[in-house]
Amino acid sequence: MELLRDVVVLLHIVGFAVTFGAWVTAAVSRELRFTRTMDYGLVLSLVTGLALAAPWPAGIELNYPKIGLKLVLLVALGAVLGIGSARQRRTGQAVPRPLFVAAGVLSVTAAAVAVLW
Ligand code: HEM
Repeated sequence: MELLRDVVVLLHIVGFAVTFGAWVTAAVSRELRFTRTMDYGLVLSLVTGLALAAPWPAGIELNYPKIGLKLVLLVALGAVLGIGSARQRRTGQAVPRPLFVAAGVLSVTAAAVAVLW
């Protein structure tokens, strides 16, 4: 059970790596576009995060305010990616810079909360 939890934590971190890695790739190539890779990473973070939010194996203590804040940040990131992707599809243009920056900041903020809180 404990090993299984560790594997889910690993997948949870992989989800972050996929989202943020895709964002950095776009930023470095100066293509301010949101990609499906970012969405996939976000879904992986969300599904694994929700699985980890249940107290298993029995007896572990969880920091629910911290988990709740990460959920809020992840939902906000989902909204930013959703709004940006929809605009991108409609206009064919890159997303507005502030929206692109917001996605990276939200992603890193969630990781900072996870590690520093
Ligand atoms: C982009 C968003 C997120 C990032 C970058 C992130 C990052 C991380 C990282 C690096 C860890 C391992 C370090 C630790 O144990 O604290 C972790 C653990 C965890 N995360 Fe997230 N997370 C995110 C979103 C979420 C969401 C939405 C939930 C639940 C709704 C969640 C629930 C958890 C739980 C329960 C743990 C394990 C804590 C433990 O077992 O002590 N995370 N997260």
